[in-house]
Amino acid sequence: MLIFAHRGASSEAPENTLEAFQIAIERGVDGIEIDVHAVEDELYVIHDRWLHRTTSGSGRVKDQSKAIMALLDAGNGQVVPTLWQTLQCINGACVLNIELKGISDVLPVLQHIDRAVNELDFRLEQFILSSFNHHLLFNVKQLRPSIQIGALTASCPLDYAAFAQQLNAYSVHIDIDCLSADFVFDAHQRGLPVYVYTVDEIEDLDDMAAMGVNGVFTNVPSRALVRRAHHLQ
Ligand code: G3P
Ligand code: MG
Repeated sequence: MLIFAHRGASSEAPENTLEAFQIAIERGVDGIEIDVHAVEDELYVIHDRWLHRTTSGSGRVKDQSKAIMALLDAGNGQVVPTLWQTLQCINGACVLNIELKGISDVLPVLQHIDRAVNELDFRLEQFILSSFNHHLLFNVKQLRPSIQIGALTASCPLDYAAFAQQLNAYSVHIDIDCLSADFVFDAHQRGLPVYVYTVDEIEDLDDMAAMGVNGVFTNVPSRALVRRAHHLQ
């Protein structure tokens, strides 16, 4: 079972910051999940549509300027990192799941990935692009069929993982609150690994392992890594 640091090691450092990514890498995670929004012609790594929960600023992310974004404190004196700063920080140390949130045009994201593969130590297969907006994922696959996409859902559809197969997804990402053995079985029948968010507690980690889930997104990667080692003994 793969361990993804959800917004970085977000229980040990402010979420979606370079500090949280560095700690996740030090802990030895298999992957890091981040959330991305566009501001002017730049991409920033931040979860919410609004600034106030995670930064020193206020207002909607999409209403800001790059100059304002650069001045924000995301906690512990950390900046709100750009996607490029994040790519430089992680630099191929693990898989990177980029979740598209405040994005209308996928092309700049694809250009960042191209640049990371060309200029940094990333390989293309280390990227997974996911989104609750399946139209964006469809656009990604049309523009770059070779990029892996993760079909993200916060529900359990009547036809289980069929939507992910329609999108030609690499993986299906589902909320733990909607997960069932039937969903896992259906996804696996379709050849789709199942990644589950957000799995922080020991009992839930054990359930995921028992169900044959392929990966978890966790805010507490150190705990998940210890528990996985326990299962392997
Ligand atoms: O990608 C998994 C998870 O991050 C999706 O939900 O709201 O935490 O971005 P959210
Ligand atoms: Mg996310």
